[in-house]
Amino acid sequence: MSDKIIYPARRLRGEIEVPGDKSISHRAVMLGSIARGTTEITHFLNGADCLSTISCFRKMGITIEEKPDCVLVQGKGLRGLSAPDGALYTGNSGTTTRLLCGILAGQDFPAVLSGDASLNARPMQRIMTPLGQMGAELSSLSNNGCAPLSVTPGALHGIKYQSPVSSAQIKSAILLAGLYADDETSVTEPALSRNHTELMLQNFGAHVSSVLHVEGGATALVTPPDELYAQQVWVPGDISSAAYFIAAGLLVPNSEILVKNVGTNFTRAGFLKICEEMGGDITLLNRSFKGGESRADVLVRSSSLKGTVIEGDLIPTLIDEIPIIAVMAACAKGTTTIRDAAELKVKETNRIDTVTENLQAMGGDVTPTEDGMVIRGGSPLKSIRARSRLDHRIAMSFAVAGLIAPGETIIEDGQCIDISYPEFFETLESCVER
Ligand code: S3P
Repeated sequence: MSDKIIYPARRLRGEIEVPGDKSISHRAVMLGSIARGTTEITHFLNGADCLSTISCFRKMGITIEEKPDCVLVQGKGLRGLSAPDGALYTGNSGTTTRLLCGILAGQDFPAVLSGDASLNARPMQRIMTPLGQMGAELSSLSNNGCAPLSVTPGALHGIKYQSPVSSAQIKSAILLAGLYADDETSVTEPALSRNHTELMLQNFGAHVSSVLHVEGGATALVTPPDELYAQQVWVPGDISSAAYFIAAGLLVPNSEILVKNVGTNFTRAGFLKICEEMGGDITLLNRSFKGGESRADVLVRSSSLKGTVIEGDLIPTLIDEIPIIAVMAACAKGTTTIRDAAELKVKETNRIDTVTENLQAMGGDVTPTEDGMVIRGGSPLKSIRARSRLDHRIAMSFAVAGLIAPGETIIEDGQCIDISYPEFFETLESCVER
């Protein structure tokens, strides 16, 4: 995989549009495949992760056409998938793997799922336990609680599951299996994680209710439908991809950029809150709402940032943005403390380690903790050879750091950005002035 070189930026200018939301793109293909009729998905993310989802459903007999301006999914209904010939390959994608297990639990054929080395090291017991309680049999073929996984469906029962962690992947796997259960299925999590599955299931005709508890936590409940029905899905721009440009606009002096059509669903928008709390000059323009998802254009102007505390219920709303927030914190005045974020350890890499390793190498003052990190901002960053360790979010975060470091910053295996943002480096070049 190729390295990428980043040079310092004088300023950022212009308007950009980021690719479609990864979480929503996955779900649109999945629900489209098990709905009746043709689902049309516009602004679909052509990243490697979402292409893994497409290829798994094609292997189960679903026709999916990738057109220049949309993706068409010829759904065959809740019980229309057919047994794949061989294992389903889920690449680097945790979302594909975990959500697919939920759907596979309700089919009438067994299947095996496997991914790349990083995926096959990520914890799967978190979905094996609840799906097992519902009546499916999931086993880790390496006996280590990780993929490859075999999924043997069973007659599924509705359950009331208390998830020990806030994770949309766990919640969604259970809700998707709940479509095939004999009764209602609910998932309660300690804090609300992204709710795209709940919103999209409702649009496709399932009855889903969601409750935020006054004492903390949230419950989502699905009633098994007779069928789901095809929809038009307009995918908003991915706020997790927009975050790199928003951060770059804030950090590089004399910048002003407009990031258009960014998804601003409140279960995802913690990053925008933190930018404001850190003193970032951002303005939301042209707010709109389509298909249950809100969106806006984000106007960003360079700002001097200050440290903050990021914890509790906010964490699931910005979990994927913590690497870039750490870069912002290293450039801010004062200390930023991130806690309650132990989930960072089980992402594409252990992101507490990979952020710490690179920030320290750049001269940043960061102390890793059990569930986050403490970053004392203000030390000037120097250019390094940043180790992405094949984690797309680490590659993009340190590409942004490279804009403010003097000299050449090399992003090792930078091409891993293909997972979620294949045009990242081209878009960055289009708005950087040197
Ligand atoms: C995702 C959920 C998040 C996130 C991941 C995508 C999803 O994981 O980190 O990139 O699409 O459901 P968890 O909710 O499991 O933490």
